[in-house]
Amino acid sequence: MPTDQYAVFGHPIRHSKSPRIHSLFAQQTGQLIDYIARDVPADVFEEELKNFADGGGRGLSCTVPLKELAWRIADEKSERANRARAVNTLVIGDDGKLFGDNTDGVGLMRDLTENLGVTVTGLDILLLGAGGASRGVIAPLLAGKPKRLIIANRTVAKAVKLASEFADRGEIVAVGFESLIHESFDLILNATAASLSGDLPPLPEGILNPEGVCYDLAYGSQPTAFVRWGEGQGARLSVDGIGMLVEQAAESFFIWRGKRPQTRPVIELLNKERGLA
Ligand code: ATR
Repeated sequence: MPTDQYAVFGHPIRHSKSPRIHSLFAQQTGQLIDYIARDVPADVFEEELKNFADGGGRGLSCTVPLKELAWRIADEKSERANRARAVNTLVIGDDGKLFGDNTDGVGLMRDLTENLGVTVTGLDILLLGAGGASRGVIAPLLAGKPKRLIIANRTVAKAVKLASEFADRGEIVAVGFESLIHESFDLILNATAASLSGDLPPLPEGILNPEGVCYDLAYGSQPTAFVRWGEGQGARLSVDGIGMLVEQAAESFFIWRGKRPQTRPVIELLNKERGLA
């Protein structure tokens, strides 16, 4: 029997850790799969996806900039994918039909609660950014029953619109960065694209409560600007999104293969390789 084919599509894709993560999961669970990374810009996504499916592809991870497009073209979608209006996991059926899911939110929540011991219930939470990365995590954060969730964004109108889409899920307030001056939070999550360019959103001193936690949804080979900022503010914990990456991959792997891999050894290995163990 031919080995089942999986892939991650995105652009750029060169530094993707997904093939490594999924091959570690496959080894661990005794599953025989091939998982490759392919550089796929948005304009050729549908064509590449069709080729992949025709060649026996069984499932796909979609990353930047394809998540919204994947959501648009999937034949059937999970509720959480519809909430996020983005798909990071596609299942390719035997009939070629596409089922789209989104495991980013559950990936973040598992990393926070199970790996880092951070329970969001009753916390004052600040979410920075109002793009796709934020959209994917708002519903699961609200489901954790925080004391309050504030979204701050450079373009306030975008945050207001995003918050209004989740108003049925809990209390959520949208503000600009300048309104944060007298506020303080137990957990600050960075979902802006600023970190990737080494930038920081403008955050006032004292915004992190003592014993507060900083979490950057992005990650890199070195601590991000936001992670370093959190350390400088005396955060109890200031971490990047490598754990979320591994957890969302584990959930995708479970959707495809029906087996739940252990994530901790994989996170530890990736951290060790980055010199962060
Ligand atoms: P993604 O889908 O990865 O979230 P996006 O939709 O382009 O990407 O959103 C990027 C987010 O990062 C936005 O909230 C953006 O703020 P604006 O909506 O005001 O553009 C935010 N962002 C990007 N660069 C930033 C910077 N230097 N400082 C603060 N926010 C920044």
